[in-house]
Amino acid sequence: MAEILAGRRMRRNRRTDWSRRLVRETALSVDDLIWPIFLVEGQGITQPVAAMPGVDRYSVDRAVAAAERAAALGIPALALFPYTNPDLRDESGSEALNPDNLVCAACRAIKAAVPDIGLITDVALDPYTSHGHDGLLVGDEIVNDATIAQLTAQSLNQAEAGADVIAPSDMMDGRVGAIRRALDAGGFTNTQIMAYSAKYASAFYGPFRDAIGTSATLKGDKRTYQMDPANTDEALREAELDIAEGADMVMVKPGLPYLDIVWRIREAFQMPTFAYQVSGEYAMIQAAAGNGWIDGERAMLESLQAFKRAGANGILTYFAPLAAERLTR
Ligand code: PBG
Repeated sequence: MAEILAGRRMRRNRRTDWSRRLVRETALSVDDLIWPIFLVEGQGITQPVAAMPGVDRYSVDRAVAAAERAAALGIPALALFPYTNPDLRDESGSEALNPDNLVCAACRAIKAAVPDIGLITDVALDPYTSHGHDGLLVGDEIVNDATIAQLTAQSLNQAEAGADVIAPSDMMDGRVGAIRRALDAGGFTNTQIMAYSAKYASAFYGPFRDAIGTSATLKGDKRTYQMDPANTDEALREAELDIAEGADMVMVKPGLPYLDIVWRIREAFQMPTFAYQVSGEYAMIQAAAGNGWIDGERAMLESLQAFKRAGANGILTYFAPLAAERLTR
């Protein structure tokens, strides 16, 4: 084997489990997990989401139980998404400003029962609008600046209910700065902002739109505000602006198909960088596993490990409780 240079054998370190563990370059832990959960009106309700096997919508009392489970597993934070009653949806998404809306009620109930878990709330109007868009629709345009006024009010409403991290997912220009100023003026100087900085107009959000009930109502698509999947440099400019405007953490979404973006943003800014393994990614793994085509648990762990390898500090994933159970056992 003259071609093996100076006795180099890469396989030597891989022979045994102890050695593989010793040379492993990245580690996935429960500290890396953020669990997105869906909320629904009512009491004692756990409602399966058809396109996301293993994921349910919870009434507020059940969300509290989920938070208790998450805390027991050591999951640092939850992200909350409401299925708003269709009667409460209107043109301007006014339910987003209701201090007793589902997200606010869940924040208060979870904070009372599980004070030490982090609560991340999504800022965007899509769960509340009759047209399913993240912003205000005038004619056929999503108007930027008027939407921002609505989003800052939504952020304050969530902060008042006890949200720890405000996470704008709407992709309007200038919203991070406006939200930061509004939070500071309202006395919420400790409230963090996790910006969905590079959020792409993706087909992988399909099951989520079922979960929050916007797939039937969404008019058109979101390509005038979410990013073109073909672009990379633009993601860096988006992240740069969000950081300059005051983001404490940045996020890339979807996850696995966009690991190059995660890597470049982490490298460029050295900011806490998160990735969102979205509903369609979850559904693909669960569907293949459910058919016996892949080993679901191994695919889950491999996908989460890949985010760490790409430089993510943490991952929003519907697998969070399953992964936490696996990582702590
Ligand atoms: C919208 C929002 C979306 C997701 C999180 N926030 C969907 C969209 O932009 O239509 C998707 C999450 C997922 O697919 O898991 N504000």
